[in-house]
Amino acid sequence: MASLAGRTAIITGASSGIGAATAVALSHAGVRLVLTGRRAQPAIEIPGAVYVAGDMTTPGFADSLFAQTPECDIVVNNAGVLVVGEVDDIDLDAVAHMVRVNVESAYRVAYLAARRFKENRRGHLINLSSVLGSKVRLTAGAYSGTKHAIEALSEALRQELVGTRVKVTCIEPGLVMTELHRDFAVHPRDQFEIRQALEPNDVARAIVFALEQPDHVNVARLMLLAADQAI
Ligand SMILES: NC(=O)c1ccc[n+]([C@@H]2O[C@H](COP(=O)([O-])OP(=O)(O)OC[C@H]3O[C@@H](n4cnc5c(N)ncnc54)[C@H](OP(=O)(O)O)[C@@H]3O)[C@@H](O)[C@H]2O)c1
Repeated sequence: MASLAGRTAIITGASSGIGAATAVALSHAGVRLVLTGRRAQPAIEIPGAVYVAGDMTTPGFADSLFAQTPECDIVVNNAGVLVVGEVDDIDLDAVAHMVRVNVESAYRVAYLAARRFKENRRGHLINLSSVLGSKVRLTAGAYSGTKHAIEALSEALRQELVGTRVKVTCIEPGLVMTELHRDFAVHPRDQFEIRQALEPNDVARAIVFALEQPDHVNVARLMLLAADQAI
């Protein structure tokens, strides 16, 4: 396994959930951290980590994060939102906003990372997709579409960057217990009868696993499901 000590990571969506757990795990591995999220203070404070509050959809925000972090060689492209609903009542403005966060902003971060890493001939881009990046589920088609979009870009970037020492990984979790479902009337754990969903730490461990592979190994896709999640 390759040591991560001394490397520098930007993690988007690091103020809660999977991003926060990944920040803790990478901090333990000796990685310097630049974290971002919308709220003024992250859910977990990490000594030594830089936290930059801001909205990924604000023009120039992602560019300034990269400009502030020239030494960055890991990007965890994780910020995301989830909007579901039936044909008759899904909030179309919320869907449009989700596309801006999950696709437009995530694409910008992915390309900025790819450019930086290609120039430096070193780096690892981790994109947060979902089990719904390759499947669809009733009422979650729009969200699923945003994650299919991330899968497509990840695979195309991986192909384009072959031979440059830049790695691209897509992480595809099933249900994880985070704030993502906080507005749901019925939590998906109950809806789909999942006794024990994933915890953010389970996904963080998978991200560390991908990052710690030796130079000749790229984990291109990694799907992680609760043992009792059918999909
Ligand atoms: N939880 C699951 O079941 C699950 C499953 C598969 C994939 N995923 C993916 O995993 C990623 C992380 O989600 P999570 O489950 O950890 O949910 P979460 O706890 O709600 O975390 C989402 C993070 O994204 C940030 N964020 C959202 N909109 C933003 C914006 N416009 N600008 C900047 N930051 C923004 C949030 O910041 P603030 O809260 O500070 O605004 C927060 O830090 C997402 O891409 C999600 O699609 C989650």
